[in-house]
Amino acid sequence: MDHFNYRDRELFCEDVPVARLAEEYGTPLWVYSTRTLRHHLRQIQTAFADVDPVICYSVKANSNLGILKVMQEAGSSFDVVSGGELYRVQQAGADTTKVVFAGVGKTDAEIRQALENQVLMFNVESEAELDAIAEVAGALSVAAPVALRLNPDIDAKTHAKTTTGKKGNKFGMDIERAAFLADKVLADKRLVLRGIHMHLGSPILTTEPYAAAVAKGVEVVEQLRRKGHDTRWINLGGGFGIHYRKQEALPAAAYAAVIVPAIKAAGCRLALEPGRFIVGNSGILVSRVIYTKREGGKLFIIQDAAMNDLVRPAMYDAFHRIWPVHAAVAPPEDFEAEIAGCEPADVVGPICESGDYLAKGRWLPPLARQDLISTFSAGAYGMAMSSNYNSRPRAAEVLVDGAGHHLIRRRETYDDLIAHERF
Ligand code: LLP
Repeated sequence: MDHFNYRDRELFCEDVPVARLAEEYGTPLWVYSTRTLRHHLRQIQTAFADVDPVICYSVKANSNLGILKVMQEAGSSFDVVSGGELYRVQQAGADTTKVVFAGVGKTDAEIRQALENQVLMFNVESEAELDAIAEVAGALSVAAPVALRLNPDIDAKTHAKTTTGKKGNKFGMDIERAAFLADKVLADKRLVLRGIHMHLGSPILTTEPYAAAVAKGVEVVEQLRRKGHDTRWINLGGGFGIHYRKQEALPAAAYAAVIVPAIKAAGCRLALEPGRFIVGNSGILVSRVIYTKREGGKLFIIQDAAMNDLVRPAMYDAFHRIWPVHAAVAPPEDFEAEIAGCEPADVVGPICESGDYLAKGRWLPPLARQDLISTFSAGAYGMAMSSNYNSRPRAAEVLVDGAGHHLIRRRETYDDLIAHERF
């Protein structure tokens, strides 16, 4: 469920007409719904409540301070993958003792920064990283809390560029080496073993990979316990899928049903790192049609959002629902089917690349210059992956709450574009 709905064929975010936001803040424009953010976080909090998990919103999905603040106030912690993300969550008021620090390439400076801020644990991805963390911790005379990121060799059946838990991916350490690595941690006074971490990929639309991962995780924990290690934490990462095309995603309760009993039986603490599930359907990208044209037997809708704003279609062949903000034709149940009163069009941006599109062959009602369209499910990995390619200033971001709204990032200016450059 989200809070983007049509009332009398006009798109609203909560109680605010999206067209009014486009008037006030311009386009392209990111519009986020506070209620949807809270609703999705609460779904996870409720589904997993039985094991009192630490839910670490994955900052990489959308790192705007306004979003982080909503998460913080709603009781979420954070998963960060860089010193920059750690800095951001601190600015949003996070309790860093509940923050997990992940990433394959943590630098010594980032390790120091994380230790100084007493993070809950590092998700350690290599033996070399263990050595580096031990060294930095030693220099600071502290013991660093670590979780071993294990590669469980599970196929999450997601896009090749976002699958992470298969042997041969760059992430984690082979699960067979867990006992050896745990012994190494235990032998080192500069390190404390908190548990294990696994992240399988993203987005994952079935529960089977999680069931398999938690079973493997518990097996490792029990093996370590038999050897005398007091291992408590199992962090299952993120990856819960969302509705991109229609209602294809599972509720949080479905994932909880395969995870919670195993965690409970093993007497473990659970950490989760959901990003997309929380913020994906909490945001849309609003854009305005600049031109339409028919060439080569095709209809093109040229609008003012581009791959520098939302790169997911170009990068992962991702499907995002698109529909006019003022909808003469009611939005369909199935956006992939032929739709009466519509015709197929390529929705493209102004960037000089053929890969610059938001949708191809998409059935849409007639559109004209100045019409507003909405690209849905764009809150995760949208703005976070945006760039200034073609010297396009980044779009503004607005957060709606009920009938109120406020700017959480102003539109960039031409001066912003050159602010860091020298000649
Ligand atoms: N934890 C770890 C270790 C991760 O690598 C990720 C995502 C997450 C948590 C959060 O996953 P989520 O719950 O958001 O699925 N840019 C791609 C997705 C990349 C995901 C990277 N890692 C996209 O637009 O689909």
